[in-house]
Amino acid sequence: MAAVGGVVHGLLLLRMRKGGASWRGGPSDKGEKMRKMWYSFLPCLLVLQLEANPGLKVRITQKGLDYGRKIGIELLKQRVLKETFPSWSGQESFSLVKVNYTISRFKVDAVDIPETFASFIPGTGVSLSVAHASATISADWSVAAWLLSKDQGGFTLFISELFLEIVFKVSWDSTGHLSVLLHNCQLSIGSVKVQLNEGSSWIYSFLSGFLEKAIHSKLDENICLNIEYKIQMMDAQFRKQKVLSQIDAFAQIDYSLVSSPAVFKSHINLDLKGTIYPVGNHTDPPFVPAPFGLPNKGDSMLYLGVSNYFLKSATLAYYRAGIFNITISKDIATAFNLTTAILKDFVPEIALHCQTVCPVILKLMATSPPAVSLQSDTCSLWITGSVEVFAVLPNSTIQYIFAGNLTTSTRGNLTVIKQKLIISLLLKRLQFSLLRSAVGFFQISLVENFLSYALRRVVIPVINDKLGKGFPLPNLAHTTLVGPVIKMNQVRSSSS
Ligand SMILES: *[C@@H]1O[C@H](CO)[C@@H](O)[C@H](O)[C@H]1NC(C)=O
Ligand SMILES: *[C@@H]1O[C@H](CO)[C@@H](O)[C@H](O)[C@H]1NC(C)=O
Ligand SMILES: *[C@@H]1O[C@H](CO)[C@@H](O)[C@H](O)[C@H]1NC(C)=O
Ligand SMILES: *[C@@H]1O[C@H](CO)[C@@H](O)[C@H](O)[C@H]1NC(C)=O
Ligand SMILES: *[C@@H]1O[C@H](CO)[C@@H](O)[C@H](O)[C@H]1NC(C)=O
Ligand SMILES: *[C@@H]1O[C@H](CO)[C@@H](O)[C@H](O)[C@H]1NC(C)=O
Ligand SMILES: *[C@@H]1O[C@H](CO)[C@@H](O)[C@H](O)[C@H]1NC(C)=O
Repeated sequence: MAAVGGVVHGLLLLRMRKGGASWRGGPSDKGEKMRKMWYSFLPCLLVLQLEANPGLKVRITQKGLDYGRKIGIELLKQRVLKETFPSWSGQESFSLVKVNYTISRFKVDAVDIPETFASFIPGTGVSLSVAHASATISADWSVAAWLLSKDQGGFTLFISELFLEIVFKVSWDSTGHLSVLLHNCQLSIGSVKVQLNEGSSWIYSFLSGFLEKAIHSKLDENICLNIEYKIQMMDAQFRKQKVLSQIDAFAQIDYSLVSSPAVFKSHINLDLKGTIYPVGNHTDPPFVPAPFGLPNKGDSMLYLGVSNYFLKSATLAYYRAGIFNITISKDIATAFNLTTAILKDFVPEIALHCQTVCPVILKLMATSPPAVSLQSDTCSLWITGSVEVFAVLPNSTIQYIFAGNLTTSTRGNLTVIKQKLIISLLLKRLQFSLLRSAVGFFQISLVENFLSYALRRVVIPVINDKLGKGFPLPNLAHTTLVGPVIKMNQVRSSSS
């Protein structure tokens, strides 16, 4: 078995190309999706090891931020168009007359946000700004004054030259959750114009003069407060995120942050724990991640660095869950034509025991956790264990044939399908040593050929089927990765 040291770390690069991502969901749930985009930027989870190296690294580049901004603004527009506002009423003096008014049925008819910017603020977080934005809003008015008849009608409100800049601080909490906080919010509104659709001239001069000022100051007071409230909700959402993500019936993954997000001019780095546990047992594996880095590139929106540690904890979890202990039953053997007819070609002695064609059953047991290594474009997995081979005789008696130790070297094929990292194994080599035999001694290389056939045709497909659910990748902005590029680089760790 090959020893896998902590000196060389594999790195899986998952690149999301520009324009290579699509937004899931129909137009009907876009408002909800937008909320989720801001609220569930990353499922960051509990259980934290202070000052630990990460098992997974995520980098979002300026390209990724720009992509998120474009989608975010689109969804913001749609949401504003659907927004409902409360009516408001009061009393206002107009030429010594006290006038009661009610403004109701606000409806945003159009929004234009021609210029938006997003950038990273090193050491702090993210800045989002909007320039020259405008909106057209319609609403109803009604007024009543002493000695005057009541009157009502509609008006249109034009808001233009709106500038807004918000900066939110990105950090983490003591339990490894992502945390966001409004750091700064600056608003300036160039003009608010009211146009009454009907009404007498005094009402016109009363309402337009008073409403323009009142609406202007209401917007000034409320927009930043509203944003702060939304960001607090987003933060609360982050803190409520699940502790562990279920992968399948056997394993769970911990995505908690192991350090505060690091914001640079061109990107943000998130260090995630990236440990995979067997379901129900969150004992940390007996090894720790070694430091590794992501390359300094910005041509993709998102980079995901996967460490050896991540894969080692995965194989350990699956080993503990018994996924590498496999019994090929009579039914599976029959379905794959795994019979003594094939075994006979490799082990002629078998003919003495089984004259007719009988199904062959295999019992494979991993005796130690598989070793993994990620190296220049390959992920390798070595599985050591034992194998027992039986034949099912026509009278249903299980006839033991032989047993031995088995070491297999497999190549892990990593693909990303539907936001999941899927590992499928391909057999490269196997080595067999005979321990016991009921058919005398035979040529080991022939048995190896048979086992190699059985593993390729039957066993590996069974393991791949169990691994087939894949590892859920951190869910970024509810986007779907399209055409992700997987690259493995060798990254020398700095400390070992
Ligand atoms: C205006 O509102 C005040 C307080 O709600 C009320 O007392 C008054 O009667 C109202 N005046 C008119 C003309 O409706
Ligand atoms: C969890 O796994 C560890 C390591 O295999 C073991 O020592 C421990 O007893 C397990 N705990 C439970 C509750 O099964
Ligand atoms: C897998 O098989 C080995 C060898 O028989 C055994 O020691 C181990 O407990 C099994 N693992 C599981 C999870 O069943
Ligand atoms: C099994 O063998 C039968 C007869 O030789 C053949 O018809 C069938 O296609 C085989 N099935 C598989 C899964 O190879
Ligand atoms: C089943 O068949 C085998 C070989 O023909 C024989 O040795 C064995 O005794 C039989 N077992 C039973 C339970 O009949
Ligand atoms: C088979 O593997 C076991 C441990 O899994 C080992 O103790 C034994 O020496 C091996 N036997 C041979 C013949 O390789
Ligand atoms: C890896 O898996 C993908 C998807 O399952 C498949 O299309 C591809 O051919 C596999 N690569 C190798 C080298 O087997």
